[in-house]
Amino acid sequence: MAEPGTTDPDLPAGRPSGLLGKQIAGYRVEGEIGRGGMAVVYRARDLRLDRTVALKLLAPELARNDTFRKRFAHESRVAAAIDHPHIVPVFEAGETEGLLYIAMRYVAGQDLRALLDREGPLPPDKAARIALQVASALDAAHAHDLVHRDVKPGNILIAAGIDSDRPEHAYLTDFGLTKKSLSLTGFTSVGQFVGTLDYVAPEQISGKPVDGRCDVYSLACVVYETLAGVPPFRRDDDMALLWAHQYDPPPPLTGERPGLPAGLDDVLAKALAKSPEERYGTCLEFVSEVRAAVRDAETGRDRGRDRRRRSVPGTPPPPPGPPPEPPRWAMPVFRGRL
Ligand SMILES: Nc1ncnc2c1ncn2[C@@H]1O[C@H](COP(=O)(O)OP(=O)(O)OP(=O)(O)O)[C@@H](O)[C@H]1O
Ligand SMILES: [Mg+2]
Repeated sequence: MAEPGTTDPDLPAGRPSGLLGKQIAGYRVEGEIGRGGMAVVYRARDLRLDRTVALKLLAPELARNDTFRKRFAHESRVAAAIDHPHIVPVFEAGETEGLLYIAMRYVAGQDLRALLDREGPLPPDKAARIALQVASALDAAHAHDLVHRDVKPGNILIAAGIDSDRPEHAYLTDFGLTKKSLSLTGFTSVGQFVGTLDYVAPEQISGKPVDGRCDVYSLACVVYETLAGVPPFRRDDDMALLWAHQYDPPPPLTGERPGLPAGLDDVLAKALAKSPEERYGTCLEFVSEVRAAVRDAETGRDRGRDRRRRSVPGTPPPPPGPPPEPPRWAMPVFRGRL
């Protein structure tokens, strides 16, 4: 049994945890940042190094699940080993008093979920900039044989960028910390929170082995939402949503938000293919196609504008008529043939 005030069995249930001011594994809890379905994230003071960190405390039920614990230990180690500008650095992951915790860089900003809720669909160039950063993080993880499995707006943190060319800096977080695969193998009992199913790949749903291409699918769902304001599939209940991921074609992006570059429809359709073999091989391949479609649309618009600028108002082009007569010097050539 845990000591009162250190571990709270109701941690992710939405009640204040009473941990403020408490010391957990060398960190003093200073304030709650937010909570998801399986964890609470606090702003905390690393007492050894005297710096602010984000301290994530996982729900005690997860510590009791052996599969989760093993994967948590393995994946936190791998995630901590990846040094990438768009992956939240993990400082420490461990267990104390039956509670799994992760200490990581505190990212001042908001997550992409909050940004979309506040601003709605993003301008295509901004959406493409964020997608590029997340794609580079995912491909780096895949190069370490690490599949994220839970790419979604809530796991993409957006901080201020360094200059006007890069106005935002995206960080990917929460590698391997998904309950979805566990729930699908019977871990989650009826009524427990599984998390959003808006971004889950068909092969995850059917319990097949997953590789980096499941992250390509989820990233495509996120990119779709950043551009359209809604994820590709919306259904009234979870079963229907899972069915849609498995069998329904995604609605064209331009149908959701007319005015978006038409070239994006094919790119998104390929990234959202039901079969991993039919998707882009890497996240960067997918996002470079997204950027090309956005750029082409801009260039097309510019070309149109240039044409309008070059033409003199009031002098319409001559109407098509019969071809002009050949010049006199060419007559000997044509005589006798025409
Ligand atoms: N390193 C960090 N720095 C600052 N804020 C963070 C950090 N990591 C997570 N957060 C914030 O903490 C909150 C809770 O995160 P958490 O991962 O528990 O939930 P989630 O990803 O939204 O949902 P889920 O439980 O489905 O994963 C989010 O609002 C997130 O933006
Ligand atoms: Mg998260």
